[in-house]
Amino acid sequence: MGKIILSNPFPVNTYYGAEYFCDRDDETARLISAIRSGNSTTLLSIRRMGKTGLIQHTLLQLPLGYKGVYVDILETENLNHFLNVLATAIINSVPEKSKLGTKVWNFIKSLRPTISFDSLTGNPQAFFDIKGKEVELSISAVLQFLESQSFKTVIAIDEFQQILKYPEQFTDAWLRSRIQQLKNVVFIFSGSQQHLMTELFTSPQRPFYRSTQIMKLGKLNGEVYGTFIRSLFRRYGKEIDQGLVDEILDWAKTHTFYVQQVCNQVFAASDKKVTHELVKAQLHLLLKEQETMFFTFRNMLTAPQWQLLKAVAHEGIVYQPTAKHFLARHHLNASATVLRSLKTLQEHELVYTDFDDEGRLYYSVYDVFFQRWAEGR
Ligand SMILES: Nc1ncnc2c1ncn2[C@@H]1O[C@H](COP(=O)(O)OP(=O)(O)OP(=O)(O)O)[C@@H](O)[C@H]1O
Ligand SMILES: [Mg+2]
Repeated sequence: MGKIILSNPFPVNTYYGAEYFCDRDDETARLISAIRSGNSTTLLSIRRMGKTGLIQHTLLQLPLGYKGVYVDILETENLNHFLNVLATAIINSVPEKSKLGTKVWNFIKSLRPTISFDSLTGNPQAFFDIKGKEVELSISAVLQFLESQSFKTVIAIDEFQQILKYPEQFTDAWLRSRIQQLKNVVFIFSGSQQHLMTELFTSPQRPFYRSTQIMKLGKLNGEVYGTFIRSLFRRYGKEIDQGLVDEILDWAKTHTFYVQQVCNQVFAASDKKVTHELVKAQLHLLLKEQETMFFTFRNMLTAPQWQLLKAVAHEGIVYQPTAKHFLARHHLNASATVLRSLKTLQEHELVYTDFDDEGRLYYSVYDVFFQRWAEGR
């Protein structure tokens, strides 16, 4: 990837290179160390923490002799589609005119796809129209081709939980058995639906159980992130005080996407010097912009569910949602109702559970903006 100069240094949708990417040095080193040892990794975190960014960041820093292939399978609906995105990613990972490129192209063409060109990017895309065993054979052939190269390949499959929606049965068992035979190809699996990813990789009933090392991605270090944010403002000729940066990090709970989003808006709206009033106004605006969506969320819920969500929002983190003092403080009904509501809120992905550093389970509101909005109700 060539160097990209962004007009706003706080991207909120995708990875634009190391310059706009804060830290994750340890995580990158750990991924690379796993790759060097030939171990596949499953990268887990709650949504919008920076998994996809970390994968892109890592693939650009692979040691000599390694090639990275990134596939996002969110839009795939079956194994045929999976083959399409895999083959497409592979042909796009090497320049066509190079010696290796020719070899890769010739191989992919030998599988007889239709090649077309993306109307926006001009990048080639491979389409197959095959079924059943033939798809399996083609995917195996692609993996075998990579396996037999003089270089090593890292295949990162993002939104991997999507395979659970394929109509083909036992896709994970089949894929696991193929992958197990590879020595020259290492995988990184990730996905935004944490409960499904956890189920796929940590449930003993599942074929992928214990087949990869699990890596949990936590929040960025607040101090490091703060320094990074200030230096980006400065590089673009703007000034923001440490106190204001701390306020932003605190308000956005150091949750990467939300911090990026706030910084992006504050940066865009500010002149030379960022003021406290400006930050406050932007935070207010951010919530106002999304209010229609928040009303929709709220209308989905019954009164006890909404009551509970507000309570969790107010507390930030809740360890014991059925504890007497919690119920009393927020005027909540009996604990059985609370547990039932909690289950619904989790199913709607409005509330998530995670473990703190001491292994204690807690509940929190999933979307930071929604939390801040609900807190003010
Ligand atoms: N270390 C970082 N420094 C700066 N920005 C980051 C960093 N990590 C991620 N981001 C940005 O934050 C946003 C969310 O990150 P990303 O999409 O990687 O999260 P994710 O965990 O893959 O989310 P999802 O669970 O929804 O797939 C993106 O715009 C990304 O560029
Ligand atoms: Mg992602």
